[in-house]
Amino acid sequence: MRLKDRVAFVSGTAMGIGEAIAILFAQEGAAIVAADVNEEHGSATAERIQAGGGRCLFRRTDVSVEGEIRALVEDGAREFGTIDVLVNVVGIADENPLHEMELSQWERILKVNLTSMFLTSRYILPGMLASRRGSIVHISSVQGILGFPGYPHYAASKGAIFSLTRQMSREYAANGVRVNCIAPGTVETPLNIQVLERSSNPAALRAGWERMHPIGRLGQPIDIAYGALYLACDESSWMTGQCLTIDGGMTTSALL
Ligand SMILES: NC(=O)c1ccc[n+]([C@@H]2O[C@H](COP(=O)([O-])OP(=O)(O)OC[C@H]3O[C@@H](n4cnc5c(N)ncnc54)[C@H](O)[C@@H]3O)[C@@H](O)[C@H]2O)c1
Repeated sequence: MRLKDRVAFVSGTAMGIGEAIAILFAQEGAAIVAADVNEEHGSATAERIQAGGGRCLFRRTDVSVEGEIRALVEDGAREFGTIDVLVNVVGIADENPLHEMELSQWERILKVNLTSMFLTSRYILPGMLASRRGSIVHISSVQGILGFPGYPHYAASKGAIFSLTRQMSREYAANGVRVNCIAPGTVETPLNIQVLERSSNPAALRAGWERMHPIGRLGQPIDIAYGALYLACDESSWMTGQCLTIDGGMTTSALL
């Protein structure tokens, strides 16, 4: 087991990539401190982990609210001990060209996607620094590298995660804390399944998405979870400040 005796704080565990990471990490021996605003599905993930013999503490937590994060970090550390793995998964998106976007829409995406990563790190790092052990993984996106019309706020939040990762890695490398990020391509999560279902021609949209990935299929949440596991565990102990792109080859081509 690659995460035996580790305590991992994972956000966005109710569904999609966060759910896959929480379940895989629990199977690998970690106790999971789980945060999500979706109480029903967040509880279901925790119950699945516990039914499999794993340990999980879930609280309905909005990762953009400082007091809620601080409370969950404290409860998690009290229940399982020092948190030594942090995976910041939560990210949201909506679509609007920049010239039609309200300031409130811009600020909401930046707060949930980027400020939340500052807040979880802010409250979890002191424990990692005291024990001189920790691995932090931020989930970014290929949209931090490539331009997709309609997503200026989302792209800005995801691009900033690369800089945050490099800066944090440099600051804490000598203290035993590593910081990396992952840039996924298009992954078949509930969010994207809903987009397909709402489209006038789901089959054509799906085929278009598949064509953007040279490997010829969409990603599955587990494809990203295995990357997060590598970055969280000691097998990646000489890696920090980097972005692991897991995208079916999408960013290898100038033509999408
Ligand atoms: N799915 C993709 O194709 C894709 C591609 C690249 C990057 N990503 C990134 O991966 C991450 C996960 O994406 P996903 O597709 O699994 O998303 P998802 O929408 O399927 O799941 C996101 C989870 O976050 C939770 N959440 C939303 N706002 C929250 C908040 N304020 N506080 C706590 N929980 C909150 C939701 O309830 C949900 O459970 C995101 O950061 C996303 O930007 C996804």
